[in-house]
Amino acid sequence: MITLNLNVNGKDHRLEIEDHMRLLDVIRGPLGLTGTKEGCGEGECGACTVILDGKAVDSCLVLAAQCEGKKVVTIEGLETENGLDPVQQAFLDNGAVQCGYCIPGMVLSAKALLDKNAAPNDQQIKEAISGNLCRCTGYDKMVKAIKTASE
Ligand code: FES
Repeated sequence: MITLNLNVNGKDHRLEIEDHMRLLDVIRGPLGLTGTKEGCGEGECGACTVILDGKAVDSCLVLAAQCEGKKVVTIEGLETENGLDPVQQAFLDNGAVQCGYCIPGMVLSAKALLDKNAAPNDQQIKEAISGNLCRCTGYDKMVKAIKTASE
């Protein structure tokens, strides 16, 4: 067991975890934040995407022990008392959600992009979500939603 200090969605946590746990396991397990999904478990699908110190990462590929003192944002961290994050709202408004399984990761990849680049072009949006697979919608509505959120 190891002790892990982690800031998740603005809140500090001190956790006792198994040293082999992935960041994804800690998020869905001890932290109970099940909005982060596991798809492939090997860095291919992006369903497990979270924002780690400002960067979108596949949490299934990150060893939790490597995250000591870091800041994590999960999908649960985007909604505030003022409502949904503009990216979440834009996904709803543009009909960019079908089954929803990929959406938390997709939204967080978009959020990480918009935090760095407030006015991305279509190519930059496509690159930002290129690691997030969706089997329902095709990607046009998602790109449109992210564009909308940036306006
Ligand atoms: Fe992590 Fe697929 S579950 S990339």
